[in-house]
Amino acid sequence: MEIIEKAPAKINLGVDALYQRDDGYYELEMVMISVDLSDHITVCDFPEPKIQLKTNSGFLPLDRKNLVYRAAELLMERFAVSTGVAVEIDKRIPVAAGLAGGSSDCAATLRALNKLWQLGLTLEELASLGAEIGSDVPYCIYGNTAFVSGRGEFVEKITNIKPFWTVLAKPPKSMPTASVFQALDIDHISHPNIHALREAIDKQDFEQMFKKMGNVLESVTIERMPEIQKIKNIMLSLGAKAALMSGSGSTVFGICENQTQAKHVFNGIKGFNSEVYLTRLLVN
Ligand code: C5P
Repeated sequence: MEIIEKAPAKINLGVDALYQRDDGYYELEMVMISVDLSDHITVCDFPEPKIQLKTNSGFLPLDRKNLVYRAAELLMERFAVSTGVAVEIDKRIPVAAGLAGGSSDCAATLRALNKLWQLGLTLEELASLGAEIGSDVPYCIYGNTAFVSGRGEFVEKITNIKPFWTVLAKPPKSMPTASVFQALDIDHISHPNIHALREAIDKQDFEQMFKKMGNVLESVTIERMPEIQKIKNIMLSLGAKAALMSGSGSTVFGICENQTQAKHVFNGIKGFNSEVYLTRLLVN
């Protein structure tokens, strides 16, 4: 049997870090939303008792360093699965980009293997297993629009927003997440109001939502990569309603009211940055 799962990318409409916890992780408040740019994960039985990873991307490790491998390994160990598995990652989401591509592949693998091995786990159980692998994995189990808190393990579905057109621009340089968090000085930085952002979404007041979007990690990354600010400025000058860095970067996204405006932003950014995607927010 073969199971195929879609693994959508996410963007953060808001990220705030409240304080650093005793375990070293930051206590976060985030609004996440899926975008219509997805990897595909295919799982099927493998004749030998091992995990075989394959991908069309040259950038991915095919061992324990890959979160997909860790997902398969965790389920095999926890549920004493003795058969082997082959997992194929059809990669479309830019790697190390702040779009949770690796976490979404991991979440899709957990969902797919739950079906392949008929484990009967609920999404809550899969999210809790995913939290052992990475902070963004619990959100990626559910996808869509969510308020995410804690280290990333508390996921609350929130009202879906309109499927706005979105332009993603990934600068050539990537930004390792851990180094961005390490450089964060939360007492001397401006914090977005994630609760006001959430309230605007709940009221479907999109003008207010655009104003309240913010990412506490942005200034740290911009200091190292000033082109992020440039991309934001260009997107806004071309008519995007809001432009923000996603996660710890380095992808910048612009949200547009309609397709014409989004195409205008897409074409304008294309001349400045080579890796650009025209997509939509994914709402169910
Ligand atoms: O959990 P994950 O391995 O995806 O996190 C990557 C890095 O991001 C961590 O090593 C940590 O430095 C940082 N992080 C954090 N606080 C969070 C989530 C991630 O400091 N809540």
